[in-house]
Amino acid sequence: MMELKIQLIPTGEIILPPGKNGENFCHNCKVVASDGVRAMMESALTARDRVGVQDFVLLENYTSEAAFIENLRKRFKENLIYTYIGSVLVSVNPYKDLEIYTKNHMERYRGVNFYEVSPHIYAVADNSYRSMRTEGKDQCILISGESGAGKTEASKKILQYYAITCPASEQVQTVKDRLLQSNPVLEAFGNAKTLRNDNSSRFGKYMDIQFDFKGAPVGGHIINYLLEKSRVVHQNHGERNFHIFYQLIEGGEEDLLRRLGLERSPLQYQYLVKGNCPKVSSINDRSDWKVVRKALTVIGFNEDEVEELLNIIASVLHLGNVQYGGEEGSACITSDTQIKYLARLLGVNGSVLTEALTHKKIIAKGEELMSPLNLEQASSARDALSKAVYGRTFTWLVNKINASLAYTDDSHKHYSVIGLLDIYGFEVFQHNSFEQFCINYCNEKLQQLFIELTLKSEQEEYEAEGITWEPVQYFNNKIICDLVEEKFKGIISILDEECLRPGDASDFTFLEKLEDTVGGHPHFVTHKLADGKTRKVMGREEFRLLHYAGEVNYNVNGFLDKNNDLLFRNLKEVMVMSENNILTQCFDREELSDKKRPDTAATQFKASLAKLMEILMSKEPSYVRCIKPNDSKQAGRFDEVLIRHQVKYLGLMENLRVRRAGFAYRRRYEVFLQRYKSLCPDTWPNWQGKLADGVSTLVKHLGYKPEEYKLGRSKIFIRFPKTLFATEDALETRKHSLATKLQAGWKDNVNLSKPLFYSCSSVILRFVKGFIYRHKERCPENEYFLDYVRYSFLMNLRRNLPKNVLDKSWPTPPAALKEASEHLRKLCMQNMVWSYCKKISPEWKHQMEQKMIASELFKDKKDNYPQSVPKLFVSTRLNGEDINPKVLQALGSEKMKYAVPVTKYDRKGYKPRPRQLLLTGSSAIIAEEGKLKQRIDYGALKGISVSSLSDGLFVLHVPSDDNKQKGDVVLQSDHVIETLTKIAICAEKINNININQGSIKFTVGQGKEGIIDFTPGSELLVAKAKNGHLSVTAPRLNSR
Ligand SMILES: Nc1ncnc2c1ncn2[C@@H]1O[C@H](COP(=O)(O)OP(=O)(O)OP(=O)(O)O)[C@@H](O)[C@H]1O
Ligand SMILES: [Mg+2]
Repeated sequence: MMELKIQLIPTGEIILPPGKNGENFCHNCKVVASDGVRAMMESALTARDRVGVQDFVLLENYTSEAAFIENLRKRFKENLIYTYIGSVLVSVNPYKDLEIYTKNHMERYRGVNFYEVSPHIYAVADNSYRSMRTEGKDQCILISGESGAGKTEASKKILQYYAITCPASEQVQTVKDRLLQSNPVLEAFGNAKTLRNDNSSRFGKYMDIQFDFKGAPVGGHIINYLLEKSRVVHQNHGERNFHIFYQLIEGGEEDLLRRLGLERSPLQYQYLVKGNCPKVSSINDRSDWKVVRKALTVIGFNEDEVEELLNIIASVLHLGNVQYGGEEGSACITSDTQIKYLARLLGVNGSVLTEALTHKKIIAKGEELMSPLNLEQASSARDALSKAVYGRTFTWLVNKINASLAYTDDSHKHYSVIGLLDIYGFEVFQHNSFEQFCINYCNEKLQQLFIELTLKSEQEEYEAEGITWEPVQYFNNKIICDLVEEKFKGIISILDEECLRPGDASDFTFLEKLEDTVGGHPHFVTHKLADGKTRKVMGREEFRLLHYAGEVNYNVNGFLDKNNDLLFRNLKEVMVMSENNILTQCFDREELSDKKRPDTAATQFKASLAKLMEILMSKEPSYVRCIKPNDSKQAGRFDEVLIRHQVKYLGLMENLRVRRAGFAYRRRYEVFLQRYKSLCPDTWPNWQGKLADGVSTLVKHLGYKPEEYKLGRSKIFIRFPKTLFATEDALETRKHSLATKLQAGWKDNVNLSKPLFYSCSSVILRFVKGFIYRHKERCPENEYFLDYVRYSFLMNLRRNLPKNVLDKSWPTPPAALKEASEHLRKLCMQNMVWSYCKKISPEWKHQMEQKMIASELFKDKKDNYPQSVPKLFVSTRLNGEDINPKVLQALGSEKMKYAVPVTKYDRKGYKPRPRQLLLTGSSAIIAEEGKLKQRIDYGALKGISVSSLSDGLFVLHVPSDDNKQKGDVVLQSDHVIETLTKIAICAEKINNININQGSIKFTVGQGKEGIIDFTPGSELLVAKAKNGHLSVTAPRLNSR
């Protein structure tokens, strides 16, 4: 006798074999085996009593930090390290191997809705993957948290999930291997043991995984951020240099070490002993070496490349052992052993290198002179060379990995992307320096993005569902971002100014400049400006920033040097001559001829962050917030003070508040009805009418009060967790009574009702036969099956109609219904278009008209046009209060149609000047503070020129014989597509916009001509070139 078993398994799935009335249970279920049906259920709620809540939104007391932490603690004690806040995953580092990352676990999360299984990093990975596949939108997963919280481990788990669960061909397998193997290589060169983490990433990493139309991973691309180069030459007590040095010394074959001139003991190398801990029990350098060596081969390094790479690593160690002696004023190298190795390994001339390590080239009266360095200067020149060589080699390595991951199939250019961001979290140490300043600035930017996107998506969901949005109060940290990054008056600009100005600038003059310029800012304090109480906890050499996550004091010592990041010219000259192929790519000859100073470290970082924000903004984000439970890397220890601090600066309470501002719980109607339909006689076993009516009937039957819930267009929103819990409890009771009834019923059937049993099997037989004959003309054998397929298609269609005009999904029809399906699709689309048009507001129509014009003007013609598409055009970028009253007065009754901050470049020296561009009904006006500097009547506007690249420069051309004008105007706007579209519309010059390749000519006044040259490059640079032209380097944008 067959026995019915209902099995409740921990994921919340129910497995039951079919039986009498089986169809009631099987409806909508997934068939997993011939004898079993799997019905997915939300387990998230069933286990809540035992281990807190799996989603913080279900915390009754959601504003209490104590309740939040208690929930984390309860779950952590049960090894449940993952908890959601809505769709954000909070992860607590367990510091021990949990058996939750097996292939079986991956299977369990594959293709299953977020809330149907318990929280997991795989659920986030799967959710992003499915959204990418079904909605066609690029995704990104942002992983943040402090050092040691588990960011890198999380990103590796996600990568492994894709490598194992995504479809693969042979070629894809190679890409998967390379994607996976890029990790050990990057970790060897970019990670190190610190006090906080034995495998701490000392660089930020953003990695794109590219998927083809079949959903297979076909390529990747990595961007690295700010490697901590100072570690190459110095490590704090208890810390190590980058892993690769120790791996090479411990694991390198005898032969190899001999060739590199290395001894098998890290203690022999000055650069490896500063932290006094070359050996760490948790790290096995020898076996890691093997892994890295193999990974290099998988990635595609040939033997010569590996040899050249290791030559560089060994050279850094030799450089560290270069000792200086001699008189105080002029240093000399005491032994030439290292120089001999260095000359060979770097492929440079030994005596030229010796001179460059002890002298500095100065140019006096047009003549080159070699001036000797003193001991201190010589040591720092040596260290600067080591840092530069290592830092640039690391960037080379990333580029090399990128080349190996590049998607090369030209026939399918289009691919979708999931980006993974594993970047340093907010850092506060006893002494905070330039690096912490950059890292915390990065976190301010990420926080800004996070707040904007979570609030935005929450608001969008309410709008989509037709539910009134209740405004949420939150702290907007834009004010702090501006304090750091604003052009001309932010901290980075002030730092750059001190680095570049002639005279005796120092870290102290920088601090004074800060006090003069941003002293009054509410988020900035120094010892001098502070009140008595704050003064006690601040040094005179410090400035304090009041970050969103807390206060941090930064010591200005070293800021100028680190920002300058200079390498003496003669050392660069030596490296340019190197015969090592990697170094010739790292030290470009052009760098020597380029008189322009390279951008400072902070400015480069700022530009790379701006680019990162752009990348992230163009994608659908998911968040993983990692928490470190204790400072001693111990399993099972939950340090409440430490955790409270992280909960605060990760903004988790705020995130929860936003998520809970309106409703604690929301689900699509079909999901809600499917789960709870057994609780109401009208909805059980199936509801035949509209889903919304079914849900309404169900909740009324359950006694929900009107203030407890709202019905949206496709979802039910429940305000309080307790309402849901009561429903869950009712379901629990109901499930048990149903199980008992079913078991009894099954026994009755098998024992007493043989005819019914046979009639069931005859239905199955007819079905199987129909399937076999399904491609034949309609006949008695297949008619039952064909009808069933048609019926299922139509029922499925009813449930899965496209949601909006952009939703191109449509269930695949059976052959017999192809034509009908096409008619239905067209009808459905017409209907949606019609109702969409009916709902368009005048503002939205205006927006679309402007966007249409922008598309006509710039689509496929200007590189940064695609980035402008998802951003709405605003009516103005400067309001009345942003514009000087004198300017407003001078405008009189002229109505301003649009205003935007711009940078104007002087006609002669091309000096950048901040200005405002105002558009009225009759003219474009350039204003500075209280003055109207120039007015160009639209009638006099001959044309507008702009480049085809991604820069924001443009030229307004005026007639050269117009005495009122001083020549054409060169401007730059951060919103160039929007600005030019507005000018084109206001001035009716849609046909007068010229998009130029290469260069733009313009009139400087009195018939003289100026030229702007545009070239693509890695980042935006605007400067006067040697040939007198204005040279603009525009960053290459990803064409996605
Ligand atoms: N899910 C996990 N399961 C088991 N151990 C983990 C997990 N996540 C992290 N760990 C442990 O914690 C250590 C630190 O994690 P990880 O290197 O990912 O931190 P991180 O946030 O990337 O830190 P950093 O900012 O310093 O790079 C790991 O080496 C591992 O031992
Ligand atoms: Mg890390």
